[in-house]
Amino acid sequence: MPIRFKALSYIYNKDMPYAHKALDSVDLDIREGIITAIIGETGSGKSTLVEHLNALLLPSEGSLEVLDYNIVAGQKQKFLKPLRKDVGLVFQFSEYQLFEETVIKDVAFGPMNFGLSQQDALKQAAAALKLVKIDESLFNVSPLELSGGQKRRVAIAGIIACDPRIIVLDEPTAGLDPKGAREIIDLFVSLNRQLSKTIIIVSHDNEMVYNYCDETVVLSHGKVVYHGPTMELFDDKKKLKEFDMLEPQIVSFRNELIEKGFKLSKDARTLKVIAREIAGQVKR
Ligand SMILES: Nc1ncnc2c1ncn2[C@@H]1O[C@H](COP(=O)(O)OP(=O)(O)OP(=O)(O)O)[C@@H](O)[C@H]1O
Ligand SMILES: [Mg+2]
Repeated sequence: MPIRFKALSYIYNKDMPYAHKALDSVDLDIREGIITAIIGETGSGKSTLVEHLNALLLPSEGSLEVLDYNIVAGQKQKFLKPLRKDVGLVFQFSEYQLFEETVIKDVAFGPMNFGLSQQDALKQAAAALKLVKIDESLFNVSPLELSGGQKRRVAIAGIIACDPRIIVLDEPTAGLDPKGAREIIDLFVSLNRQLSKTIIIVSHDNEMVYNYCDETVVLSHGKVVYHGPTMELFDDKKKLKEFDMLEPQIVSFRNELIEKGFKLSKDARTLKVIAREIAGQVKR
């Protein structure tokens, strides 16, 4: 497994009176090459979990393997730089991370930090900005002049420019309008499908998770309460009730059609495919 949490706990303000255990003995394997969603109620530990992936936080107890790196509670880490090159983390509200005077310089910062010459870093930055569909006319403006969606994409470009193997996005679509959110979704799907990146997404948007994420991890009070194929989770009414989650609209629609006697294949999970399958069954 490229990512393996072993009995990992994380305690904020350890040894203080207001210590708080945000992750509680997490055992979790995340597969390479797929899109995995991390979901769960507010405060369940999602950000705390993903911030361990590039050693921004270090375990209080237990350990974590990421690619060839082994991170053990209480041990000094000597490989932070290569780990952070291999695992790119786009924070919740990543737009606040932008700090350089121009868009292109901001995106080139990471690759330069990882040892590329300025010329090569700018080349990588330009390629990453192209991938996130930021027009060349914006390369030399201040990041502050961009829209919310554009800023978010520039922050993601900053990670892509470092060419990581694993890309972690903490609530990448939160607060964006539908079009802005759609652009981000298309982007991480293509990073996965075309560039074979392992993608981990923290999200509150179950519709998006259902439509695009292969596997889902549900956290509750710092513990993993579900990990498995996304479809299985959202098809399981009992689990949805247990986790206090809404059924995605397409699942309700599909179930209603099946109840009405339509025959739908296992793969009929988008409006397009459902429409195609029922078209032949509707009497004229
Ligand atoms: N810097 C901190 N100091 C103390 N406690 C913290 C800190 N950051 C988070 N916590 C607490 O740890 C728990 C987990 O927080 P975390 O941010 O990981 O949750 P989350 O699932 O990402 O929530 P959200 O959906 O609101 O982003 C929460 O109870 C939170 O209050
Ligand atoms: Mg969070």
